[in-house]
Amino acid sequence: MKFFADTAEIEEIAELAATGMVDGVTTNPSLIMKSGRDILEVTREICALVDGPVSAEVVSLEAAEMIAEGRKLAEIADNIAIKVPLTWDGLKACKTLTGEGRMVNVTLCFSANQALLAAKAGATFVSPFVGRLDDINLDGLELISDIRTIYDNYGFETQILAASIRAVNHISECALIGADVVTAPPAILKKMADHPLTDKGLDAFMRDWAKTGQRIL
Ligand code: G3P
Repeated sequence: MKFFADTAEIEEIAELAATGMVDGVTTNPSLIMKSGRDILEVTREICALVDGPVSAEVVSLEAAEMIAEGRKLAEIADNIAIKVPLTWDGLKACKTLTGEGRMVNVTLCFSANQALLAAKAGATFVSPFVGRLDDINLDGLELISDIRTIYDNYGFETQILAASIRAVNHISECALIGADVVTAPPAILKKMADHPLTDKGLDAFMRDWAKTGQRIL
């Protein structure tokens, strides 16, 4: 499973990238707004921080303009994945841009039928939003499972990029289902390592080690 950081905050990305555990980054218009940065500048800086795919989202709603914006975003760096919404115009843009050999992440996916269309359009990634489905009392993880089944039924190569991750359990559940990627806020990614019994056990080891009076170095 690949871990992408879902943020446009440079310091957060740099901190996580230093761990060697981040395989990519996803941004969207809301995350760019939150960063307060120019989209082209901040995306260029992000692309220099990670080797893996960096999703940058188009903001037009019409296919021809999406394609033009996607081509401009792709000029930023070789690891740009152009993000387009799951609409017919987005699917048309996806088909054209992937036909040009570009990575495309089809986002705002909320149903198995939408994910089926994204795969048909040749998407590199599809981003089903788990948390936003949970927010309205639907089952976001069930969607991940349905997409996994459908993609495996037909050998679609589109990667399932589970997004809108609200808790660490979403990540482990997506891994059990077989999502290819999860993109999560850095705070959620960091929480993956937390467990009170680990802390308790380490404290006990350190107390006992101190009693030996020994050093390794
Ligand atoms: O990449 C999509 C993600 O940013 C959406 O997350 O929490 O706004 O539903 P959220």
